[in-house]
Amino acid sequence: MIVKENINNVCEFNFLYDNVEWGSYDKEVASIALKNTLYSVSVYEDNQIIGYGRIIGDGAIFFYIHDIMVRKDYQGKKVGTIIMNKLVDKIKEYKKINNGARIYLGASKNKEKFYEKFGFITREEANLGPGMIYQEK
Ligand SMILES: CC(C)(COP(=O)(O)OP(=O)(O)OC[C@H]1O[C@@H](n2cnc3c(N)ncnc32)[C@H](O)[C@@H]1OP(=O)(O)O)[C@@H](O)C(=O)NCCC(=O)NCCS
Repeated sequence: MIVKENINNVCEFNFLYDNVEWGSYDKEVASIALKNTLYSVSVYEDNQIIGYGRIIGDGAIFFYIHDIMVRKDYQGKKVGTIIMNKLVDKIKEYKKINNGARIYLGASKNKEKFYEKFGFITREEANLGPGMIYQEK
């Protein structure tokens, strides 16, 4: 297994999106999004992408962990753990600049247990509101 930083390859990103059944993005849309990534981790086996995760944010106060994806046939083999550990290490580096930085992630339903292992708690446990998402009428 090889772990690489800041690759942000649109085809690999869309491949994983499809593989985990989220549906892929328009190439141009994905390209803009990935260019604005602060930090990312790509995991390869036999030169093929098997996992990806990224951090977006303002680089000092707000950070958001997103798009943690492990190819279906590699799930449950700690690839997600490798990705999350690298992202959390990077977050710790950013926190040296501002220890009060806020780290968010939008866990999909029933994925909370996975993230708990890396120190994340639900907003409710942090005494915060459930959070909101914009929905166009
Ligand atoms: C969720 C996902 C990233 C986890 O990656 P993974 O490589 O399969 O997970 P790991 O093998 O590193 O598992 C680490 C631990 O988390 C637990 N875990 C993994 N997926 C879990 C899930 N869906 N629910 C609860 N616990 C989970 C594992 O049991 C393991 O626990 P252990 O350390 O006690 O053995 C991966 O399954 C995936 O890509 N799923 C589809 C896309 C997705 O839902 N991404 C998350 C979006 S919020």
